[in-house]
Amino acid sequence: MRVEVCTSTGTYPIIFEQGGLGKASEYFNLNRKALVVTDTGVPESYAQSLLSMCKEGALFTLPQGEEAKSLHYFEQLQLAMLNRSFTRKDCVVAVGGGVVGDAAGFAAACYMRGIDFYNVPTTVLSQVDSSIGGKTAVNLQGVKNIVGCFYPPKGVLIDSELLQTLPKRQMNNGYAEIIKIALTRDASLFEMLENSPPFARIEEAVRQAVLLKQEVVERDEREESLRKVLNFGHTLGHGIEAIQGQEGLYHGECVALGMLPMCAPEVRVRLNKALKKYGLPTQIKVDKQAVIDKVMHDKKREGDAITVVYCGEVGRFSFEQRTEEQLTDALYILEVGS
Ligand code: GLY
Repeated sequence: MRVEVCTSTGTYPIIFEQGGLGKASEYFNLNRKALVVTDTGVPESYAQSLLSMCKEGALFTLPQGEEAKSLHYFEQLQLAMLNRSFTRKDCVVAVGGGVVGDAAGFAAACYMRGIDFYNVPTTVLSQVDSSIGGKTAVNLQGVKNIVGCFYPPKGVLIDSELLQTLPKRQMNNGYAEIIKIALTRDASLFEMLENSPPFARIEEAVRQAVLLKQEVVERDEREESLRKVLNFGHTLGHGIEAIQGQEGLYHGECVALGMLPMCAPEVRVRLNKALKKYGLPTQIKVDKQAVIDKVMHDKKREGDAITVVYCGEVGRFSFEQRTEEQLTDALYILEVGS
């Protein structure tokens, strides 16, 4: 299956194909220089398979984790292209999760003011969220995604076979984003997640989540209005993530926790059950004031209040204002034993 995403600068295809990695050259123009970017957490065979299809490929392996989204590695990626005399006609291909996609995409966006960028996301999280919509960025002094741009890829290849090697916790992590978009945009997808055996219909769940995200980014590419719905669970989630540190919870786990206080009580009962079913946390022991301090420094702050996404009914959402006090109270829902 193939869908075309419309952007302000053109369109790009998302190709869904089991085993598609081995046929990437049918979808991507690899008949030129290509910098294949991966990281140490991705099975090496994935990038090697891609590399074998490139006319003149070079491999760049980033370290696994947020460290890869630093200006240091940004410079290394630029140098890798410069030292091989890449021109504007050459390309970058990401083979990895969200970090790889963000770093490689931003490197492609900047080299010679922009060269073609293809993405082969290898995690559920990156297949359903970060590979779609053209956000690219690196971090600066601990501030996530602060240096970046919107730069639509030239193509995205979603190959469900690549998920077979994904650790269980990473699988759960990605499902948080599927649950997020289903809960706010599509009651029938949420019901499918509730009613099917866990992970049984993963290809369908990924495809539907991608199509829902496609609709959102086509209507609001630059996150001026509707796209903010994708931040559901992220306000408190980012606060929790920021104080957890490297060894703490994964992004999707923090989003799972962040969604719970932002729902009507009857929605929360269903969400709570769904999160447990997909191995995601529903309670946490956390320093609430530290979380709120992080949240109140969030870039989405407007005056004394913060705009949050609230789910009053499965499949629907609203944007609402919350004060610091209200957000602190909301965190009690997550207390162990509550
Ligand atoms: N990950 C949220 C977005 O793409 O806007």
